[in-house]
Amino acid sequence: MAIERTLSIIKPDAVAKNVIGQIYARFEAAGLKVVAARMAHLSRGEAEAFYAVHKERPFFKDLVTFMISGPVMISALEGENAILKHRDLMGATDPKKATAGTIRADFADSIDANAVHGSDAVETAQVEIGFFFAGMNIYSR
Ligand code: TYD
Repeated sequence: MAIERTLSIIKPDAVAKNVIGQIYARFEAAGLKVVAARMAHLSRGEAEAFYAVHKERPFFKDLVTFMISGPVMISALEGENAILKHRDLMGATDPKKATAGTIRADFADSIDANAVHGSDAVETAQVEIGFFFAGMNIYSR
């Protein structure tokens, strides 16, 4: 199986709930390694650029407003099959539909405040990691 990297964001709701460590523990238990990390309070422009793919969707403005409502914890994770593994750990977009034991089932309150973001494909992971970590070290290990 391929060693991949994925971009993970612990969103403002989960940071406010003080569960960064609990979420990182799930990544580590699944064999995902944190290879870069930084905390940031995104500007509206940054959040709009990051979610540009959704700019025509009806939820875009609310999504951006939510993502800038507080600091987020941004990480690059590395491991076997990291993209799908991370998405499995997150659970379905809507926490009401997320499998029990997933991050969203356990920590998210609603489809718009849903605790975590994860890249959905190799190409998007590359773009998203570049978006937040361009010019910074990735500590592959
Ligand atoms: P999406 O990429 O479809 O989901 P995921 O985060 O599971 O990859 O959507 C991006 C984010 O947009 C999602 O995490 C929360 C928000 N969103 C809504 O607020 N309402 C919606 O109906 C959808 C589909 C997404």
